[in-house]
Amino acid sequence: MSEKEQQPAQITLDGTTYSLPVIVGTENEKAIDITKLRDQTGYITLDSGYKNTGATTSAVTFLDGEEGILRYRGYPIEQLAEKSTFTEVSYLLVYGKLPTKTELDKFNSDISRHTLVHEDMKRFYEAYPSKAHPMGVVASVVCSLSTFYPENNKTKRTSAEIDLTVHRVLAKFPTIAAWAYKNSIGHPIMYPKNSHNYVENFLYMMFANPSEEYEIDPVVANALDKLLILHADHEQNCSASTVRMVGSSKANLYASIAAGTIALWGPLHGGANQEVIEMLDMIHEDGGNVDKWVEKAKDKNDSFRLMGFGHRVYKNFDPRAKIIKQACDQLLNKLGVHDDILEIAKKLEEVALRDPYFVERKLYPNVDFYSGIIYRAMGIPTEMFTVMFALGRLPGWIAQWKEMIANGEPIGRPRQIYVGEGLRDYVNIGDRV
Ligand code: CMC
Repeated sequence: MSEKEQQPAQITLDGTTYSLPVIVGTENEKAIDITKLRDQTGYITLDSGYKNTGATTSAVTFLDGEEGILRYRGYPIEQLAEKSTFTEVSYLLVYGKLPTKTELDKFNSDISRHTLVHEDMKRFYEAYPSKAHPMGVVASVVCSLSTFYPENNKTKRTSAEIDLTVHRVLAKFPTIAAWAYKNSIGHPIMYPKNSHNYVENFLYMMFANPSEEYEIDPVVANALDKLLILHADHEQNCSASTVRMVGSSKANLYASIAAGTIALWGPLHGGANQEVIEMLDMIHEDGGNVDKWVEKAKDKNDSFRLMGFGHRVYKNFDPRAKIIKQACDQLLNKLGVHDDILEIAKKLEEVALRDPYFVERKLYPNVDFYSGIIYRAMGIPTEMFTVMFALGRLPGWIAQWKEMIANGEPIGRPRQIYVGEGLRDYVNIGDRV
């Protein structure tokens, strides 16, 4: 990481001018360091939604929303999606370098040694109602890992202890996720089969059952591996910031990942992929009139938004969406899938891309628009889409958590501007009007 210092910024408040350091990142991104602003001036900055607030310096992921650039540890997402594998990318994110062959073999074998979850955890699944959303189940079970490995609650951990937790969480997450699905359809769970690689194992636990052979389709496994790579990190987004925030109180990694999973669940973040398919289904059931729904999305008196369009940071195109769109077309061709919903998706994309409302606001299809479509073609049920996103994002959350610990970052604790009532005296209940 290179952090260059340059001429300080100046701010004048109540007639006094203060100097504030300017930080310049590797890619020339600039920030005014306001860490001492309140001590110096009594002022804080106000930035709802943290749209202009850098919460940390980070060496994990570089993203340029205007140029549509995404790099993990300096490597372009396009190259990683084409040439790498998900576990290799996980290693890259977590340890900061591409592994050698020996390192990757060891990493894969360390992960596959921990794929089983404690048998007692199976009982949790029995207690969840079958209609429980899998994100709620997954987050709870991941958090429960901390009760099975209480040593993880120590605030001073050796790097070997951290590595063990990292291997455990990476290994168990697919098992936990696939079991949540099996539970939701009332089928017996499938134990992991460690002769499979990471992605194959997940597909096996999702789709195999004890009464028939299940053959993993390499086309599906490859597409899923690519999807997971594309989701693996996205710098200081809502869930990564949550992981860092929770971890900053020295909560353990399992609890921090569980919190990140919950943050991802919301429809404005990872939950959008589920909402995309539900929206397409709704448009289909309504007769497939795409123009009508585009008009609704533009109407400020209507709360309807086109799910899968727009992004907080990508304002030209989402580089992940570009790769995924291609993968989506390839997969659908190879699998020979024809689906009315996909036709509606294509029409929607066409209409929205030329409508001035979307063009002016730079609202392009995002990664979730296409990932929902691919998951559907793979036979992954809609409610599991956000779980798939979480599975992909896991190494990113781990990398963000590790970096926050390594940086010795202080507990996250924003301030506020209070706009409520001024001081007033308590009124006895009988005297209130
Ligand atoms: N449909 C219709 N109008 C939209 C949409 C949309 N999907 N997204 C933004 N707008 C309009 C919005 O009404 C506003 O219009 P105006 O300037 O006239 O008031 C303008 O575009 C700017 O929107 P914003 O809400 O201020 O933008 P934001 O940066 O706060 O929100 C977003 C980004 C992703 C939350 C938003 O675009 C959205 O709700 N999209 C749909 C949900 C979605 O697909 N989320 C997944 C994001 S990708 C996965 C991830 O990385 O988490």
